[in-house]
Amino acid sequence: MNLALLGGGRMGEALVGGLVDAGWEPETISIAEIDPDRRRHLEEQFPGTRVVPSPAWAVADAGLVVVAVKPGDVVDVLASCSTSLPEGALLLSIAAGVTIDTLETAAPDRPVVRAMPNTAALVRKGAAAISAGKLATDADLAACEQVLGAVGVVVRVPETALDAVTGLSGSGPAYVFLVAEALIEAGVLEGLPRDIAITLVRQTLLGSATLLAEGDETPEALRAAVTSPGGTTAAGLRELEDHGVRSAILAAVEAAARRSRELGRT
Ligand SMILES: NC(=O)c1ccc[n+]([C@@H]2O[C@H](COP(=O)([O-])OP(=O)(O)OC[C@H]3O[C@@H](n4cnc5c(N)ncnc54)[C@H](OP(=O)(O)O)[C@@H]3O)[C@@H](O)[C@H]2O)c1
Repeated sequence: MNLALLGGGRMGEALVGGLVDAGWEPETISIAEIDPDRRRHLEEQFPGTRVVPSPAWAVADAGLVVVAVKPGDVVDVLASCSTSLPEGALLLSIAAGVTIDTLETAAPDRPVVRAMPNTAALVRKGAAAISAGKLATDADLAACEQVLGAVGVVVRVPETALDAVTGLSGSGPAYVFLVAEALIEAGVLEGLPRDIAITLVRQTLLGSATLLAEGDETPEALRAAVTSPGGTTAAGLRELEDHGVRSAILAAVEAAARRSRELGRT
């Protein structure tokens, strides 16, 4: 199937990179990108792909169209290529907050799938959720899973759950970066040189995430395994509980999901 990518920015580039590495023929991929410098960069990165300035040129023979421009550009970009969009072409949008209703209005009679990816897709460790529009079939969802699966894991949810996904995995990397910042400052407070604290924190987060992702154990079991009775970790964890960290995380995800709902209404 020919794939057209509208918007060759950071996410678009990550997706094409994942697809080409997963074995998609570069010759079946067209990329529409308005910025000439980005076009040159994409041509160098992905020899064999067709990189063009116009969305209408990119979609002309596409079976699957991935919309990866900024949310505010989605409607204009789809309007600019609506007459060239082949009948039956499947539309996969990764634009944050752009609803299925908006996409279906902008691309009438085409199956639509809306995705909420996260920034970790840039390093192929993304967590994305997808939701089907009215005309999207199981095969359409499977095709979208294949595309987003090239840069991470993909789950299916109804569109009503996408605000919760936004609050959890969409915003989640920022919560983890905040924890990293705080840990680095704590190391400095305890007298460690900053560069040493940064090295230790980066590797601690990477190692912990790898244990969580690659093993079978739950977070609770992993935490219990490093919490010896009366030990140092137990003392540290009690402080986190006393300061309401668990409750703060619940409130953070709740607030982000609420904000996503508010933005969706406007
Ligand atoms: N990055 C993330 O972590 C993340 C996470 C979740 C969802 N998303 C979603 O993914 C989408 C892409 O994000 P991104 O970070 O990749 O943004 P980005 O780097 O700004 O990429 C968008 C690209 O599309 C280009 N563009 C704009 N209008 C165009 C048009 N008419 N025709 C062709 N190309 C056009 C932009 O060019 P100009 O810069 O010249 O305008 C830019 O190069 C967004 O909708 C965002 O909500 C991103």
